[in-house]
Amino acid sequence: MNRRKVTVVGAGHVGESVVRALAEKDLADIVLVDIPQTENMPAGKSLDIMETGPIYGYDSQVTGTTSYEATAGSDIVVITAGIPRKPGMSRDDLLNTNAAIVKSVAEQAARHSPGSILIIVSNPLDAMCQVALQASKFPKNRVVGMAGILDSSRMRTFIAQALNVSTENVHAMVLGGHGDTMVPLPRFSTVSGIPITELMTKEQIDAINTRTCNGGAEIVKLLKTGSAYYAPAAAAVEMVTAILLDKKKVLPCAAYLEGEYGISGIFVGVPVKLGSTGVMEILQLKLSEDEKAALLKSAASVKELCGVLK
Ligand code: NAI
Ligand code: 2OP
Repeated sequence: MNRRKVTVVGAGHVGESVVRALAEKDLADIVLVDIPQTENMPAGKSLDIMETGPIYGYDSQVTGTTSYEATAGSDIVVITAGIPRKPGMSRDDLLNTNAAIVKSVAEQAARHSPGSILIIVSNPLDAMCQVALQASKFPKNRVVGMAGILDSSRMRTFIAQALNVSTENVHAMVLGGHGDTMVPLPRFSTVSGIPITELMTKEQIDAINTRTCNGGAEIVKLLKTGSAYYAPAAAAVEMVTAILLDKKKVLPCAAYLEGEYGISGIFVGVPVKLGSTGVMEILQLKLSEDEKAALLKSAASVKELCGVLK
């Protein structure tokens, strides 16, 4: 049986971390692509990761390259190419530079792997999904963005710390665009099924919501030279795994909406069922008026950004 193939474009912090974590799962062979001016860097990183296999016990073949030939026939293409945030920059500051990069990457991915599913990571996330959808001309179920799993994982971390419970018991739901207007949903965030609204004060929850919304900036401020990559890579790998294994996992991801939640024509973070065909279903939560208003406000800011793109 042929092994599955996953391409990761962008061999920077997020890309290499995706490849490392994915190789350890032994689910697929992996191709890591970066631009020619980085010469042999992707090949060097790939060989280093593959030489870890005998120690960790995996057989994933990892190939680093600066051209797309080796990516042909990939099942999934993860796009992390672009520039990351520096202190003082918002995700939106990356818009035009990364839009040009994501457009060319999505076109090449579509040409060499016409049946693939694209997982977008590059920022500003929701707008980059839109660029990838248009450039690839793929159906909407085969273009999906990574952000909600990361934002929810940050929220889960803060909840577990505040309540001194295992992170394994904590689930959280963060919807909306991957920016300052993202929408943490405490009513849908639980500890072993108990909503956190029954376990914490409003003040505690407000503080966690605020820290979640600023989670990316908190890391940028500490790192100073770029943005987070370990948790983002883990989140992308959870998506790759759900697709490769047809898990039908319910995860918050950026999906193209056509009327769901009263939003149309843009990508926004919503709970989706993720499996072998990509986004198999968009789940519609019964939101309160306040929650709905916050989601629509977040969607409006995504729409505004996409407008600048045109
Ligand atoms: P990085 O600077 O470490 O790596 C980016 C890589 O992309 C570089 O190696 C660069 O040479 C490469 N690249 C640039 N243009 C390319 C092209 N045309 N084709 C192939 N490769 C190209 O940045 P990092 O930290 O890996 O972040 C990557 C992107 O992911 C950024 O836009 C960042 O904002 C975003 N990000 C998004 C997250 C999310 O939640 N959606 C979380 C973390 C990062
Ligand atoms: C993050 O949330 C920068 O989007 C990236 O860490």
